Formats: sequence, C-alpha cells, structure tokens
Amino acid sequence: MIGTVGALCVTGVVAMPGTASAASTLAGAAAEQGRYFGAAVSAGQLNEPDYMSRLNGEFNSLTAENEMKWDALEPSRNSFNFGTADRIVDHGRSRNMSVRGHTLVWHSQLPGWVGSLGANDLRSAMNNHITTVMRHYRGKIHSWDVVNEAFQDGGSGARRSSPFQDKLGNGWIEESFRTARAADPGAKLCYNDYNTDGVNAKSDAVYTMVRDFKQRGVPIDCVGFQSHFNSNSPVPGDYQRNLQRFADLGVDVQITELDIEGSGTAQANDYRRVVEACLAVSRCTGITVWGVTDKYSWRSGGTPLLFDGNYNKKPAYHAVLAALGGSDGGGGDASCTVSYEQTDRWGDRFNGRVTVRAGSSAISSWRVNVTVHSPQRISATWNGSPTWDSSGNVMTMRPSGNGSLSAGASTSFGFTVMANNNWTAPSIGACSVS
Ligand code: XIL
Repeated sequence: MIGTVGALCVTGVVAMPGTASAASTLAGAAAEQGRYFGAAVSAGQLNEPDYMSRLNGEFNSLTAENEMKWDALEPSRNSFNFGTADRIVDHGRSRNMSVRGHTLVWHSQLPGWVGSLGANDLRSAMNNHITTVMRHYRGKIHSWDVVNEAFQDGGSGARRSSPFQDKLGNGWIEESFRTARAADPGAKLCYNDYNTDGVNAKSDAVYTMVRDFKQRGVPIDCVGFQSHFNSNSPVPGDYQRNLQRFADLGVDVQITELDIEGSGTAQANDYRRVVEACLAVSRCTGITVWGVTDKYSWRSGGTPLLFDGNYNKKPAYHAVLAALGGSDGGGGDASCTVSYEQTDRWGDRFNGRVTVRAGSSAISSWRVNVTVHSPQRISATWNGSPTWDSSGNVMTMRPSGNGSLSAGASTSFGFTVMANNNWTAPSIGACSVS
C-alpha cells in the first residue's frame, strides 16, 4: 500500500515540472531552444515605462533601429556621434542582452558627403567608418551587419547601384568584411538583405557571393534575412529550405528584421511558420522582430508586430511563444474555430471535412458537433473519435489520441454521409476546447 502511494507521488512529481517550467517569455522560451529573441529599439522610447517593461521582460537581444546607421554615427567626415547609440548598447548590456550592430555599409541613410567623394577617398572613408565604429564597440556587439542590401531586386542577380558599387566595383563588399574582421575579431560578421527569404534570383546571387567568400577565406560568419512580410511579399513556402542552404555553406543564419503585416489568426500562423523554420535549422541562431509595438513600427499601418499599440500581447505573440515551446499560462483565450468543406460526391453519398483551428493560445483538446439531416446517415469517419446522440443524427467528434494544437495550428477530420436523397450540407456546431 505504501509502495503504491509512493509510486503515484513520484509520477505526479515527475509530470509537474514539465508543465511548470515552460518559459513564459519570448527570451526565456527562445533561450531554451538555444536561440536569442530580439527587438529593434529606438532611443526615443527608452524612457517610456510600458515600452521598457515589454522590452526588458520579453527580449534578450536588441538592434538599434536607426541609431547605428552611417548618417547617425558619422554625419560629416570623420566626426563621430556615438552618444545616442551608446545609450541603446549600454541598456542592452546592462540587461544581459546581446546587441546586433546595424549597419556599417549601406546605400540608404547614408550622409550626402559620402556619395560625393571620389573613388580613393570613398574607399578610405568606408574603411575608416567601419574601423572607427567597430573599434568603439569592440567586444560589445554580438553580430554586425557589415553590408546591408547590396543586391538588386528582381531577376538580374546584379549588385545594386550605390556610391560603393559604382565607384569601387564588386570588390567593396569583400573589402568591407576584411576591414571589419580586423577591427573587431570577436564580432560575427553578417551580410543582411531583404527579398532573399525564399529561394529566388536575388537570394541565389547572395548565395553565390557567400559561397565564394567561404571558398576564398573572405571573413563572413552569418547571413541576415530581414523577413519583412505582407500580402505582396508573404512568408515563402521554401523559407526553411533557403535558410538551410545558406547554413550548409558554413555560416549562421539569423532572422534580423521580422515583421508581418496582418492581424489575428492569419498573422499568428505566419509568425508561427517563421519560428518553426528557424527552429528547424540548427544554425538559425536567433530572431529579431523589427520593433516592440505596432504603434512605433515603421509600417504601423500594417500592425506587423507582436504587441499592439497598448502593449497587449497579440495572437501572433502567443503563436510565437507556443512555437518556441513556451507558455504564459493561458494569457490568451483558449479557443478554437471550425470550417467545413465537401471533399467528394458520388451518386449516393458525399465526404465532408471539418478543419479545427486553435485560437491565439495552445489548446489540449477540442470537441465539435456535426448534425446530419434525416434521412442522411454517417457511414464512416476518419481522424477523429466519434460519439452519437440517441437520434443518431448528432455526432460529437473528439480527437483520436493527442488533441493538442499550438496557437493557430489546425487539424481536420472527415466523414462519409449516405445522402438517402437529401444533399443538404451537415450543420457544424461551434468548436469547444477542453
Ligand atoms: C528602417 C527603420 O525602421 C525606419 O525607422 C527608417 O525610417 C528607415 O529604416 N531594412 C533595414 C532597416 O535594413 O534598417 C530599415 O529600417 C528597414 C528596411
């Protein structure tokens, strides 16, 4: 008897920590997966209490949204302003956050004086900028975006026109990376770009460059995938495959500026896919979202981030946390929704499929009623475990086996209805969680 009680207790104790220890923040959950989870930060918000509580509570990495760009750090030649960027870096380090350096050489947010230099001066200004900035932050930056957005959009695979490209020729990217390695040998050196998230002509061109760098020993450690998505530029179906092919070249990959325009379940699903893709690639070392709250997003009209304008967690937040294996104890409302479609029809019968989708938090089980219209009869079911009411018209479907669905995830079950000359679609009741 004592032995039995003891065994039961042990079972209970073993089972509990698995649930209780699920990390409850993005940073904590990502850390358990060996990843960082970062946000782009603006110095102007560092004094806003709600902003700071989300930043400090949820993230363990940061990127300066604008403050480390060339125009901010070196507005006139060889005159450097580090004050504002230092505040961001110091904040991150005081909170044990890793800091991404963004960005050293980029055609945009580039002060006018750079573009008006001749080739020789431009080369020395470029190297001086890289060296001075990286030395200032030496030992404090986890990864630097050494070169940002050097390739053209579209199918050409060509380098984008810029003062660097136009005056220095193709070698400027390699030269930037070599200068960067010498300036801070401890920082990871990244190439960063957008519209390179899936396999396409632009990412092929970046891939070819990175492969060449690796073959010739040009120092490069990582490739950043900005991952700014919306309906015109959705999360690519081959996102994971693209991350993996870069990783296979021997570089880390990072998701550097993630934001996805949208709302609700659709946005949550897209975020979940991004997180799952990163987790599936062992060299995908971290994810940075491009801001904390929708209200300060550079694309605020598209509400692309994880916290709304009042710093509430959105469905996308819960989907990301769940995909990272975390849980905030049901901060979202456990719910599910259903949709129905007829998938086949024959002379005497038809097949229907019901898709069950979890809402903004994970659910552990679900239940859906399907009512057929007499004299119809359900003659077969699959992917579910049915029970029936006394009339035989109402089937209650539950999961067969494990009914867990992460936030926004879906499953489906099916059945055959003998029509008996009544072709009305069955009535599908609301989805209940349990
Ligand atoms: C954006 C900032 O979010 C805006 O505040 C600024 O006005 C323009 O730049 N790719 C990049 C980022 O690498 O630096 C850009 O950030 C967004 C696109």
